[in-house]
Amino acid sequence: MSEGGREGVASLVVAWQASHGRNHLPWQQTRDPYRVWLSEIMLQQTQVSTVLDYYARFLARFPDVRALATAPEDEVMGLWSGLGYYTRARNLHRCAQQVVAEHGGAFPRSAEALATLPGIGRSTAGAIAAFCFSERVPILDANVRRVLTRYLGFDADLAQQRNERLLWDRAQQLLPQEDLGTAMPRYTQGLMDLGATVCSPRGPLCGQCPLNGGCAAFLAGNPEKYPVRTRKLSRRSESWQLLLLKNERGQAWLQKRPASGIWAGMHCVPVFEDSAALHRCVESLREAAGLEIGELQPFVHVLTHRDLHLHPVLVSGALPERPLEEGSWFALDRWDAIGLPAPIRKLLEATQVQLW
Ligand code: ADE
Repeated sequence: MSEGGREGVASLVVAWQASHGRNHLPWQQTRDPYRVWLSEIMLQQTQVSTVLDYYARFLARFPDVRALATAPEDEVMGLWSGLGYYTRARNLHRCAQQVVAEHGGAFPRSAEALATLPGIGRSTAGAIAAFCFSERVPILDANVRRVLTRYLGFDADLAQQRNERLLWDRAQQLLPQEDLGTAMPRYTQGLMDLGATVCSPRGPLCGQCPLNGGCAAFLAGNPEKYPVRTRKLSRRSESWQLLLLKNERGQAWLQKRPASGIWAGMHCVPVFEDSAALHRCVESLREAAGLEIGELQPFVHVLTHRDLHLHPVLVSGALPERPLEEGSWFALDRWDAIGLPAPIRKLLEATQVQLW
């Protein structure tokens, strides 16, 4: 164990956070669990600079959990549009509804109870409980996992659940022991800040790290070896044929995506899995006179586990009132009125489908 033992680690992180950490982010100026929860969900897979605008807009429209719970799903998805990982937005909405229906509109005050809500995993529950209620619980998001495995020289394979559990136990042991009211929020934020600004995946700035005196990886000269995880994400490629139908009023035909899978619950142009199916559909529409049909530039949209190769075909002109069974015409006044995946919104903008 490093200089000063276990309590030493916590006090080093707490002191460093006060002098070198991030202390002016909007969600740090409150202990309101609604605001802290919203920020933690947004920050799960999105960087701070992007979250700032979305966070402000969300709070302006939904100032409390009841406002969010009673909003139409499309509006929530619309405000989330562009942040990606849309399961987060759907869970956010469900979570707000559950907090209102089952907890009288007040978030539960322990990490254990928070972790039973939709979209709140163990680490997010720990962050909310530490920030808002100073509960003595650990967090272990990707940044903090890196800091702690390096500090501890923890080289067991995290692809195995058993090792992941061991690391949670070690994280628990390192927590502050005293002054929990101020120490827990600061320690939690300090680990996040170290992971985000000093203990980077490549080329960590060990010279600036308050833990370098006791960091096993730094002392062994191999910080980049950590964390150890053998199972790599398997990536797949998929080809999607997109049919952009644009009528004479400049409206686009959109369908709601299925409740699960990619872009679940969002609005999207019709998707076909192969080009033969898309072309059969186009042929059936061609009976209407004077349609313009053109293939647009294909492009790749990268998701966490998937590369989507998107092949858009634009059909415009005097289209029928209902060209396909499913869907409706949309002439949107505001881009945030419904949830559209960012690449689809860009595509519609590029083809000058009248969106607002
Ligand atoms: N990432 C996750 N939670 C965060 C927080 N509270 N501040 C900055 N970045 C974060």
